[in-house]
Amino acid sequence: MTTEKISWSPSTQLAPVPAVLLGCGKSKGYDANLITVAWCGIINSEPPMLSVSIRKERYSHTIISDTGEFSCNVPLAEHAREVDYCGVVSGRKINKFKTCNFTALEGEKIKAPTIAECPLTLECKVAKIIELGTHDLFLADIVNVRVSKDFIDGNGHFNFDKKGLLAYCHGAYYNLGEKIGTFGFSVKK
Ligand SMILES: Cc1cc2nc3c(=O)[nH]c(=O)nc-3n(C[C@H](O)[C@H](O)[C@H](O)COP(=O)(O)O)c2cc1C
Repeated sequence: MTTEKISWSPSTQLAPVPAVLLGCGKSKGYDANLITVAWCGIINSEPPMLSVSIRKERYSHTIISDTGEFSCNVPLAEHAREVDYCGVVSGRKINKFKTCNFTALEGEKIKAPTIAECPLTLECKVAKIIELGTHDLFLADIVNVRVSKDFIDGNGHFNFDKKGLLAYCHGAYYNLGEKIGTFGFSVKK
């Protein structure tokens, strides 16, 4: 790779980012809904917190602001089509759980639905909403974590080796590749 670079104007070019499915609704009269979100990240360890950036015009923005809850479901690469669908169709008229053939399970600590078919779910309660410009930033406490038994290895660790996770890079979906190291391997003797 050449080390020569060109400058682009400021934009949101960070990659890779996750593409997660937020489950919302099922309280205050809202049916279960799903929204795909790529602007999602972990922002604090104690208490464990997560952020998501959502445009005001999304139906899910209304639901999450009103109910104060959502689930953050990490999909497998094999769910790329469903992830894309939930990111281009609004739940105002369509039941995305039904169309995607996802099973909605009520969270343990939240009323918002979670997706049975996703191996990892973080149950979240909104702590703060910050208006940024195009998007509102939701800061949320992670109040529970649900992990599929199939993805826990003999040492009790989360293991994604057998099925690929999804990454999103500049408008394209990728299946995460092989594991190339583990935390701290660069300094391990
Ligand atoms: C890969 C992908 C990532 C997306 N990321 C975001 C995001 O971070 N924030 C957001 O507001 N919308 C995002 N969207 C768009 C929403 O998912 C989309 O507008 C969705 O249809 C809203 O559904 P709703 O009206 O049922 O809430 C993304 C869409 C795709 C396909």
